[in-house]
Amino acid sequence: MNINEMLKDSKIMTGPFPLPDETVHANPFDRFTEWYAHAVENDTKEPNSMVLGTIDENGTADSRVVLLKAVDETGFYFETGKARSKVRQLAHNSSTALNIYWREQGRQIRIKGTAIQTADFSHVADNLDASVRDLNAYKTVPSEIEFYQALNEGGYARLLYKFNDGMWKCDWL
Ligand SMILES: Cc1cc2nc3c(=O)[nH]c(=O)nc-3n(C[C@H](O)[C@H](O)[C@H](O)COP(=O)(O)O)c2cc1C
Repeated sequence: MNINEMLKDSKIMTGPFPLPDETVHANPFDRFTEWYAHAVENDTKEPNSMVLGTIDENGTADSRVVLLKAVDETGFYFETGKARSKVRQLAHNSSTALNIYWREQGRQIRIKGTAIQTADFSHVADNLDASVRDLNAYKTVPSEIEFYQALNEGGYARLLYKFNDGMWKCDWL
């Protein structure tokens, strides 16, 4: 079969999806935790997989799947081998974009932020292999987090949190 015919015939956004979550949490980490719990409780495949976007030394965008290993009230943790390209890229440019897509829920979470290499991760050490193996652990400290919900009737609802002047503000898009 022709690739473009297959693409045209591919089904997307087949619900049923959760109803839009009207509660507006003041803090996006509370919303993230609630959505993650919902994903786990509703048979979402590999809910901890996310795409990590970086910028390489030539300014070219790059991305790959990594695992979200831990979350605290300051950021999102992932880890990687020291010889990996992303280690070089992050040393050069710490700008990151994370993208988590839960097909079963019609939900996408987009996170923009700065990745810092974390040396002190004792409070999340149980979740990180870096505590027992020679890996680099990073935390993306978010400046923006967007929660996307596909709607059963078509279309979507998007809620964008932005961190400004020491506090989170959010708006429906
Ligand atoms: C489901 C899945 C999970 C992965 N988890 C990680 C991970 O947590 N850390 C990691 O460094 N690579 C992980 N990888 C491999 C990366 O996608 C990538 O191939 C590798 O890290 C090299 O990327 P780089 O050359 O950009 O550094 C995972 C791949 C898949 C498909």
